[in-house]
Parts: sequence; C-alpha cells; structure tokens
Amino acid sequence: MDRDALLRWYDEHKRDLPWRRTRDPYAIWVSEIMCQQTRVETVIPYYEKFLSRFPTPAALASAPEDDVMAMWSGLGYYRRARLLQKGAREVVASYGGQVPRDRDARLKLPGVGRYTAGAIGSIAWSEEEPVVDGNVMRVFARHFGIDSPLGAKETDARMWREAEALVRGPRPGDLNQSIMELGARVCRPRSPTCLVCPIAHGCVAKAEGRQAQLPVPKVKKAPRRVTLATVVATRDKRREILLVKQERALFGGLYMTPALEVKGAAPSEAHGRAALAPFGSGRIVSTGKVEHILSHRVMEVTVFLATHGRAKTNSLGRFVALDALHTIGVASLTKKILRSVDLL
Ligand code: ADE
Repeated sequence: MDRDALLRWYDEHKRDLPWRRTRDPYAIWVSEIMCQQTRVETVIPYYEKFLSRFPTPAALASAPEDDVMAMWSGLGYYRRARLLQKGAREVVASYGGQVPRDRDARLKLPGVGRYTAGAIGSIAWSEEEPVVDGNVMRVFARHFGIDSPLGAKETDARMWREAEALVRGPRPGDLNQSIMELGARVCRPRSPTCLVCPIAHGCVAKAEGRQAQLPVPKVKKAPRRVTLATVVATRDKRREILLVKQERALFGGLYMTPALEVKGAAPSEAHGRAALAPFGSGRIVSTGKVEHILSHRVMEVTVFLATHGRAKTNSLGRFVALDALHTIGVASLTKKILRSVDLL
C-alpha cells in the first residue's frame, strides 16, 4: 500500500474535525470512544459539550455518573460512557491524572482495547501503533483482496498484521487516520469512488472488479427478540414520572420506566402490576406497544398506564419532572415510551 500517496491525499482532503486540532491524549480518547458505532457528524456536538463539561480525566472521574450519562444521552451504546468514566478514574488513581504513554498501561484501562490504545498512541504521541476499525477493514479487504469473512479469527489476524506493517514510518497518527478517512469518504461500503482513490493503482478489488463483493460480510446471528412490560406512572397532574435507574445490562446507568421482561407469554396487566409492585399499586391499563431496535436485540414493549396510582419512591425509583429529563441519562426507548402516551 502506497503510504506516501495516502498521506498526500489526507493532507489535502481530511475533514476539519475538532479532535484533529489537539494532541491531548484524553481528548483523543473521548473522541475515539464516541466515534465507535456513531457517525462523525453526530459525534461533533457531543464531543464539544462533553469536553467543556469534563475537560480532564480528573473532571470526568469526579463527576456523578448521572451527569456523565446525561451528557451521553442520545449517543447510544451507554456502556461506552460508563467504561470511559471508569477509565478516567483509573487514570487518576494510578497515573496522577495523565493518560499513560506506556502502551501496556493504556491497554489495561477499562474500555480501552487495541483499537483505542492504538488511536491514542499514534495520534497523541506519534507512536507506531496500528489501528483497525470497520473502515480500515473495508479498505484492506478490497486493497489486498482478502476473501475470508469479517469477524473470522484469521481475518482479524491478517488485518492487524497489515495495519502493523503499514504504520511503521513517518506520521503514524496521520497514516492511521488517512486509512480511516479513506474508508469513510472514498472506499465507502456502497459506490466507492475509485476514480479519486489515491491508492487505486495497487487495489486487488478494483483490478478484478470485485469492489461490491469485498469485504465478505460477517456471518451474523439473528437479533434476540425481547418482550417487556413497562408502566408509566405519573403524579402531580402528569408533570412527574416514575423512573428507575437501571443497574446493569442493556441500559445500565440510564433511567427508564419500571419494566420487566416477559417470557413465553403475551404481556398482560398482571405483568404491568408486577413491574410496578416495588413502588406500590394502582389500576393498570394497557395503552399500546412500542418497538425498539438495537444492534443485537429487537425489543417489543407493551406500555401500561398506572391510574389512581399510589406509587411511591424508594431507593430504586424516583419521580422526575418531565421538564428535567435532560438532567439525567434517559434511554431513547424511555422517550419513545413517553411519546407513545403523549407525555413528550
Ligand atoms: N473514526 C474514528 N476515529 C477516526 C479518526 N481519528 N479519523 C477518521 N475516522 C475516524
């Protein structure tokens, strides 16, 4: 792969992104975590808000989790936010608040894998550390004509070997970013613009006309279907709503209307009453269904309204004013549920 051609193209065509104006390893860390699974254009405003509220690892480490989740609300994949904060706490506890330059130390931070460690190392300190993400894999699969499916062990190993070989030399951070940028802008999943590609001359897929066949997609598992029953309980003339902080799993750290998973049956009012039980009782009426699609799950949620509710708060749940939802992290599913009963 022609390293010089990639760097020349990058210098001329790179997007002016806020995290490309810094070499602060913490800022780069935040940007790379946000960019995983989320489009760059979506990330930009979140990145700027997040860094002005939490400008250093110490600021993030000492913030209440609710504040962190509120800043992340809408970006999705909330585990990333919890791990980022855990990572920041580790940086404060073990490295005096400075992201460690040592690669092995970086790799031990919660939420930091090979990709993130490599992105931070190469961009912040110009270390010759490789990165492989979805864009890189697409560029490599086409350029080198890699026929094994994405996600297979052998494919992964090959991708990292290529990235490792390529990053050696001048400007490793820019080189890494040039491949990611090429994948995002030119070597796109559909309709790649090979005519403007700086490395088309060495590309196997182009030579053989196999751009549409490569990369060979991952063999996917069918998404799991999850059925939930949830209860919308309000008080103060529907101005406040009962929300529960999720402890673990899917929406850990986020607030949601009380819910439980229903297995092997259609959700009934009994399920609604059971979901509400930790907070009291009330008459339960079914109001409809909401569907929510995540990467590995399809959630079908039956929504119940609690009327004449005597719901009370306890350590698990509390009433939150509808106009204060932005101060806590609320799952998009929760917003969808509230919209379905005309509360939002
Ligand atoms: N995607 C994630 N991080 C990126 C970066 N630094 N440059 C280009 N694309 C990216």
